[in-house]
Amino acid sequence: MSEGSIAFIGGGNMAESLVGGLIADGRSPESIWVADPFVDKLDELRYRHKVNVTQENTEAAAHADVIVMAVKPQVLREAAAQIKDLVQENRSVVLSIAAGLREPDISRWLGGNVPVVRAMPNTPALLQTGATVLYANSSVDAEQKKQAETIMAAVGMTLWVEEEGHMDAVTATSGSGPAYFFLVMEAMQAAAQSLGLPGEVAEKLVQQTALGAARMAREGEDDAATLREKVTSPGGTTAAALEVLREAGIEETFTRALTAARDRSRSLSDEFGKD
Ligand SMILES: NC(=O)c1ccc[n+]([C@@H]2O[C@H](COP(=O)([O-])OP(=O)(O)OC[C@H]3O[C@@H](n4cnc5c(N)ncnc54)[C@H](OP(=O)(O)O)[C@@H]3O)[C@@H](O)[C@H]2O)c1
Repeated sequence: MSEGSIAFIGGGNMAESLVGGLIADGRSPESIWVADPFVDKLDELRYRHKVNVTQENTEAAAHADVIVMAVKPQVLREAAAQIKDLVQENRSVVLSIAAGLREPDISRWLGGNVPVVRAMPNTPALLQTGATVLYANSSVDAEQKKQAETIMAAVGMTLWVEEEGHMDAVTATSGSGPAYFFLVMEAMQAAAQSLGLPGEVAEKLVQQTALGAARMAREGEDDAATLREKVTSPGGTTAAALEVLREAGIEETFTRALTAARDRSRSLSDEFGKD
């Protein structure tokens, strides 16, 4: 087992983003293994990133200090069963990015009492602008936490939570969150067109406005409420629009929407983790 090597079990979209981000951050391709059932996908990954590839999950896992479970939630259990003996022997840390799968279930499928980090990334990770929340079980040491964080930091911002229960609210906020912004963008675009703007103009204006507003909130000193107040002159155009949104109950609607997503996340996790 070479120092600092990473194995990806599953070579799909998220694995490729992580691999690309890690290599761009200076990690050597030789320290990365990717396992996937499909030769074409592996050939492409080897061609693009020069990483080691294999069709055997056990071959990748045997080389790794960190094993990243990057398969769909429905197949994680089967993949875990394949690498369980190696994990028990090597005590490698397992980093799961599978949505909705709880740490005790993953740990149990790996034979129990193993260091497991669960991460919840979101789709913008595909463009290295993701938001990932991590949770570590008590078997994970400080060095392993750092290794897991470094991997997820390759595709964006990272934060830790101490309680796994928070992951359902995280899923409702950042996991499903991009879709809420897409919906707002769609609605604004349609409204702008209904006011007579050509479709392409409306689309570009909405996209750039969303990007600019997000950057002001992320990079400036002011929080979102202050920023909103600063751009809302009494009796002005923004105030007229915000009044309509408030009357329509936008805040309560978001509370209901995120609560529904949080509850759905809980029930999906119950379902996935059965027996
Ligand atoms: N994409 C996102 O933005 C996002 C966000 C948050 C969380 N996640 C999580 O990240 C994980 C991966 O998502 P993804 O979008 O990268 O999915 P994906 O593109 O479908 O990648 C999964 C890969 O694993 C392969 N695979 C299937 N069974 C396997 C096995 N037994 N052993 C090894 N590899 C196997 C799949 O092959 P096939 O294609 O033939 O099945 C596929 O290439 C999921 O659990 C998802 O919940 C993704």
